[in-house]
Amino acid sequence: MTLHETAHPAHAPGIDSTWTFETTARSLTGRRPVAGGVIDAIGDTPLIELSRFGAARGARARILGKAEFSNPLGSVKDRIAWGIIRAAEESGQLRPGALIVDITSGNTGIALAAIAAGRGYRTKFYLGDNTSPDKRLLLEAIGAEIVPVPNSLFLDPEALDLLFLRAQEENPGAFIADQLNNPANPATHYATTGPEIWRDTSGGVDVLVAGVGTGGTSAGAGRFLKEQKPALRLVVAEPGDASVPSEEVLYPEEIDGVHKVVDVEPEQLPGNYAPELVDEVIGVEASEAYAAAREVLHEEGLLVGPSSGANLEAAARLAQRPEHEGTTIVVILADTGERYLSAGVFGPRPAGDSGPGVPDGAGGSGPERR
Ligand SMILES: Cc1ncc(COP(=O)(O)O)c(C=O)c1O
Repeated sequence: MTLHETAHPAHAPGIDSTWTFETTARSLTGRRPVAGGVIDAIGDTPLIELSRFGAARGARARILGKAEFSNPLGSVKDRIAWGIIRAAEESGQLRPGALIVDITSGNTGIALAAIAAGRGYRTKFYLGDNTSPDKRLLLEAIGAEIVPVPNSLFLDPEALDLLFLRAQEENPGAFIADQLNNPANPATHYATTGPEIWRDTSGGVDVLVAGVGTGGTSAGAGRFLKEQKPALRLVVAEPGDASVPSEEVLYPEEIDGVHKVVDVEPEQLPGNYAPELVDEVIGVEASEAYAAAREVLHEEGLLVGPSSGANLEAAARLAQRPEHEGTTIVVILADTGERYLSAGVFGPRPAGDSGPGVPDGAGGSGPERR
């Protein structure tokens, strides 16, 4: 049923006299027509057919986008923010008025801050100084406290461990969300994202493409789907070599929110990542991810961020392979592209604008990452 039919039920075919708007809304989403609060609006995101994008790429497979940008705070992280808060409330780790602290690249912070606002908690985030300006402004708007930390800390597992300890020491009694290791993160995707994809494809999904930030989406949804269909292939899109910070290039054009999983030290992998579930890793450079994000905007009218672009690029390559003829590939579209407008993902910044999120002397002019 289309939105138009829903909005004008009198003209919709097949609706009998017992019809109420409530029954239609329920049958569409399985959700109550009036959400009890922001948390009731999380999840149950649509799967969207990307036929024009697929055709333009010569796809032999059907490509479906899992529209995580339609979560109320605009990203897949709404799911785990609520999952983490709920688990901490149930275990008694989170008490009324508590402070929630985490190290985040933005989306988890935004979701935690918004849910916390609705439940009377305060939030404080240690944020890489390469985080998209739009994300930082959003966090500030919601009222989160922000502690900027150098991007270089994220290169070094020991420095990251020290930052974690510092966050604990500086905030005695706070609840540390620890999205990288908290088991509530993959558990949420196992309980929601995976089953939704299975239900909405009627078990027809053959390949799942996701990126790895914490590893929660791929581990949770991937595990659920593989339990239903052992032949399902889990494919991770990782940033190419030129798109990750190095000692030489600390601020390259990047794919915000996702990390490399191949050719890295084991201690650099997040605790929630489950490599044993992954069948293939495809490297995508930031420029290719941005181009795919622009392509799906122009072909399909969907505004998604660069990590979705990376997943789409990987999916397009998979869909061209003869062995994927007639299969169904589901791509995680992790967040909204609105978060990257000022980062130059959809077009160059105005001349002379080095970007509000670029530390002094770190960036040049023209399109930047994040
Ligand atoms: C924009 C974006 N895409 C993808 C991911 C990866 O998701 P996960 O943390 O579940 O691996 C993240 C997580 O940080 C993200 O922020």
